[in-house]
Amino acid sequence: PGAAADLHVLDLSLAAAGRGEIRLAEHEMPALMRLREDHRAARPLRGARITGVLHMTVQTAVLIETLVELGAQVRWAGSNVLSTQDAAAAAVAVGPAGSAGEPRGVPVFAWKDQSPQEFWHCVERALTWPDGQGPNLLLDDACTATELVHRGAACERSARVPSPDGAADELEEAMLGLVARTLADLPGKWTTLAAGLVGVTEETTTGTQRLRRLDESGALLFPAISVNDSVTKSKFDNIYGCRHSLIDGINRATDVLIGGKTAVVCGYGDVGKGCAQALRGQGARVVVTEIDPICALQAAMDGFQVATLEEMLPVADIVVTATGVEGVVTAAQMARMKHQAIVGSMGHAEGEIEVAGLSAVPGVRRIAVKPQVDEWVFPGGHSVIVLSEGRLLNLGNATGHPSFVMSSSFANQVLAQLELYTSADPYTVGVHVLPKYLDESVARLHLAALGVRLTTLTEAQARSLGVPVDGPYKPAGYRY
Ligand code: NAI
Repeated sequence: PGAAADLHVLDLSLAAAGRGEIRLAEHEMPALMRLREDHRAARPLRGARITGVLHMTVQTAVLIETLVELGAQVRWAGSNVLSTQDAAAAAVAVGPAGSAGEPRGVPVFAWKDQSPQEFWHCVERALTWPDGQGPNLLLDDACTATELVHRGAACERSARVPSPDGAADELEEAMLGLVARTLADLPGKWTTLAAGLVGVTEETTTGTQRLRRLDESGALLFPAISVNDSVTKSKFDNIYGCRHSLIDGINRATDVLIGGKTAVVCGYGDVGKGCAQALRGQGARVVVTEIDPICALQAAMDGFQVATLEEMLPVADIVVTATGVEGVVTAAQMARMKHQAIVGSMGHAEGEIEVAGLSAVPGVRRIAVKPQVDEWVFPGGHSVIVLSEGRLLNLGNATGHPSFVMSSSFANQVLAQLELYTSADPYTVGVHVLPKYLDESVARLHLAALGVRLTTLTEAQARSLGVPVDGPYKPAGYRY
């Protein structure tokens, strides 16, 4: 469709294919389907205008259609230039009752492989209803929409046009370009938008870290719920999701045999733990790098060698970053790796792998082997294979996490949206976490599908533990 229609996806005729995948995913997302059943009649999100900025995948399609069934109006953009699944985007735009000729679904602005400018243009369109209104709720990933609104509002307050020169990378440069344009064309746009927001629910570690920094500096403009900090999100999606989708990404990209190879995982947080387990499961010799003594000791106790990347450069066959921090693998380090070493990121930071620095290496050549697989050949003739240009490889080279684990993450998203929108006690400006009973409820909704049978506390046991028979069972700070 042309950009004039109130949606922008690659090709609406992909909708039927996308719908088939969505139908299969629904069965694997029991918590979302249960939330639909429980709330379909009451439509508690009636009146909610939700802008979602999160990877436009099949699983996200089930999330979007759940929000719609609960009564919300929704507009959507992806949160990464490579992560959109075009068939899923088309199916959501067409909607269950529409057709390619007459789309009747949710306005989606996303396609796979966008330029930085296209990416921010899509986020802006998802933030703007045709009647000019903004959203009253954000559903965000990596603080993408939240950061745009905050940057825009800050520039409006200080009446300062941002300079792209100070940008850390192309993506930030494009965002500053968008802000500069709106300052001239639509004065007050971001301040008004921020004022209309009940709050944001944030999906991932990197986004929650950014929200906390905004809050600590006193700059946060609206309440936030960190979905990532639900146990049923970070201890499931980040660990078991990555355990599945890392291997999927490496296989689809290169199909190298992983068994017997030396694989380095940089970072042993939740994502790194899942990655290390997965590579070990394939028979790789896994070495971990860490900066935090606690995580380093955990890795050692789990039986992994812990070393520095520098030490491993001559022997590593596969290097995966899982830190959310930029500059973890530099261009100079890649130049010293083994011939055809595979380098990819599972973390969300732009520049976690310094791909931009590769093109500055004198005499280097880039060979595009296939989409999202580049061989960088150094002057001596040896090369490294870089996946997804150093961005999230499980979403760029494969299709992200499987549905069952995303059911857990996205049930937290729906509950967090409901909390912000319907809570009798409005949330204060700050970064909040869902109450423990809701976290436990998300886990409960997945037990039957796996044939799990829970033991019930007796009254006497509950008294001695000091917890109700029906939970919540653990104090807020319990680490699982
Ligand atoms: P985390 O904070 O639990 O773990 C990150 C770890 O990296 C920490 O233990 C930290 O000490 C370590 N680290 C930091 N700098 C390092 C360096 N220079 N070298 C070695 N280790 C270093 O965070 P989590 O939840 O594991 O997330 C990591 C990243 O992955 C985030 O950017 C997050 O947004 C992203 N993420 C990606 C997913 C995907 O599907 N690919 C899913 C969930 C999260």
